[in-house]
Amino acid sequence: MKLLRLLFLFVALPALAQQGGMWIPSLLKGMNEKEMKHLGMKMSVQDIYDVNHSSLKDAVPHFNGGCTSEVISSQGLLLTNHHCGYGEIQSHSTVEHDYLTNGFWAISQAEELPNEDLEVTFIVKIEDVTTKVLEGTQALDEKARVQKIQQNISSLTKTLPKESWQENSIRTFYEGNQYMLFVTETFKDVRLVGAPPSSIGKFGSDTDNWVWPRHTGDFSIFRIYADKSNRPAAYSKDNVPYKPKHFFPVSLKGIKEDDFTLVFGYPGRTTEYLPATAVEQTVSVLNPAKIEVRDAALKVMDGFMRKDNAIKIQYAAKYASIANYWKKWIGETQGLKKTNAVAVKKNQEKEFTARAQKASKQAQYGNLLADFETNYKAIEHYSLARDYFTEVALRNTELLTIGYKLYQLEQVYKNKGAQAFNDRKANLIASFESTYKDYNKNVDEKIFEQLIALYGTKVPQQFVPKELAGVDYAKLTKEVYTSSKLTGFASVKELMAGDADKAITALNADKGYQVIKAMADAYFEKVAPKYEELSLKIAALQRTYVQALLELSPAEARLFPDANSTLRVTYGKVKGYEPRDATYYEPVTYLDGVMEKYVPGDYEFDVPEKLIDLYNKKDYGQYGENGKMPVCFIGTNHTTGGNSGSPAIDAKGNLIGLNFDRVWEGTMSDIYYDPSICRNIMVDMRYVLFIIDKYAGATHLVNEMKLVK
Ligand code: ARG
Ligand code: GLU
Repeated sequence: MKLLRLLFLFVALPALAQQGGMWIPSLLKGMNEKEMKHLGMKMSVQDIYDVNHSSLKDAVPHFNGGCTSEVISSQGLLLTNHHCGYGEIQSHSTVEHDYLTNGFWAISQAEELPNEDLEVTFIVKIEDVTTKVLEGTQALDEKARVQKIQQNISSLTKTLPKESWQENSIRTFYEGNQYMLFVTETFKDVRLVGAPPSSIGKFGSDTDNWVWPRHTGDFSIFRIYADKSNRPAAYSKDNVPYKPKHFFPVSLKGIKEDDFTLVFGYPGRTTEYLPATAVEQTVSVLNPAKIEVRDAALKVMDGFMRKDNAIKIQYAAKYASIANYWKKWIGETQGLKKTNAVAVKKNQEKEFTARAQKASKQAQYGNLLADFETNYKAIEHYSLARDYFTEVALRNTELLTIGYKLYQLEQVYKNKGAQAFNDRKANLIASFESTYKDYNKNVDEKIFEQLIALYGTKVPQQFVPKELAGVDYAKLTKEVYTSSKLTGFASVKELMAGDADKAITALNADKGYQVIKAMADAYFEKVAPKYEELSLKIAALQRTYVQALLELSPAEARLFPDANSTLRVTYGKVKGYEPRDATYYEPVTYLDGVMEKYVPGDYEFDVPEKLIDLYNKKDYGQYGENGKMPVCFIGTNHTTGGNSGSPAIDAKGNLIGLNFDRVWEGTMSDIYYDPSICRNIMVDMRYVLFIIDKYAGATHLVNEMKLVK
């Protein structure tokens, strides 16, 4: 085994090196096609993206702007992750019909559940409009340039041709070096068809989040409805199932190590072309600060949640959401260190400088790296203060977050007068009702005490308002939480009652409000203006840097544009990895692993009885393999947040898996992709079908699909 792996290292490294990258489907180049074929792909790039014929892209809509989904039947059946459909599943759940806990399966189309705020967007066409967007911007300074581009984009969006039921949108690529038009169709009648119980769809919950080996059946099923002409329409009972231009056949053949995989979806944001100095700042200054704040908040929550079931229910979703990126940042920081990302970037910068010299481009590009250095140094304290403000006030201390919304309301009063204030106030107060439903004053008080002390001591002192500098934080906390009206719905309503003047006066006398107001005033006066000024400079440098990379890099450099929530292709293969010395992770997990993790009654690791039964009887139908039931697998596809729900596709265009996460050791791939430890996590389609068919008995859904055996 060991020898085999060694051999593999020598033989397969060049192939691994051809991986990473999130490519624009309409611009897949000869190089991409060659790499994909080398990795085993049997399709052509036209099969993936084509404007005149149906292609894979026609089956991959953006799911509510945040996740990805794919069409899996001729009748608009749609697959995405359980965590992507979570809000919808939750919204249909009641105590009597607890679909989150027990799962949901529509027996017929009549039982499918409409969702008010859910939409999916297909891409009809992608087109390069760079020249048009940059028209008239050549002689302008940075600020005027940004404005002119905005103007051009908004007029082009209106005037470029499209059908009446379609939309145009223009997005920037390569940090402003390229602009692409997307013609899209958005369907607004999308109904819930099925979801497994959370004990399958969310198995392992926060403990297993970002972790391999993984055993989560993270899927849910919807159906797209259209009007009688198969076009987008608002919900109507007369709508009919959407007939897609393409849908994915589902493969039952299974996967094994080294098989080709392609993941097609909407990655949100990456920063792969940061200079070394910026990566260094992320690793040693910004990530540790954000992690420390969330660490403190999570510890407080956890303490309460373990002792009190009501608090556990109130805070479970908040905890999961705060923990998600907290855990990601920890993995990212460690990964960047372990792979020496900063040193690697420094080396690349040396090569870059040499190339600029050789091409006699010093005048144009020679100062870039030094300018990055100066500006990142200059912005460091501002970025740090901004991260603390965001994490402490806007994100993790509820009293401050609520207070900040009232602060914005006070600004409305100052800038727009009493009428605007009153309109906004009514909506805001109404929205607080659900906020306070899940609010616990004792939890929040303990979080405040910890986080406000971090703010007062860790934010660069010139930005700390005097109210928070060098004070007794325990005493301040006591004062706030014994007197502030922001700790309950009824008292906030009472505080804000009456006309605008009265409400504003009362608000300003509130101790809790005074704290957030002092923080926000200091932030907007001392941090934000300079931060924005420097950010604009850095963005201009970044644009020039990426332009220079595009211009000077050798052909084989594989420069892909950073993720920007547009449709991308990433490809690789099924592959295990070595997370640390003497440890090797296999690329496939099985139902046996679910049973190994099983903790009866546990909120993360309970297993439904029916699933245990099926396991004991090894009753896997046509979905098992050699008497075992595959559950999840990993690959070298380069994914990020937003790729949740993305189809994992085999060499011939069949669906083999559903992307839902990345491995913890490789979460630094947003900044630096290293094929040795970066892996995406997918649930095996055979497990999805097994759960639908054998576990839930929703065989009619499987019958609707096209299975490839
Ligand atoms: N880590 C995945 C993502 O970034 C899954 C998050 C949802 N699951 C959870 N346990 N919080 O979105
Ligand atoms: N869970 C992520 C999502 O919701 C995908 C994981 C990642 O960041 O790669 O998009």
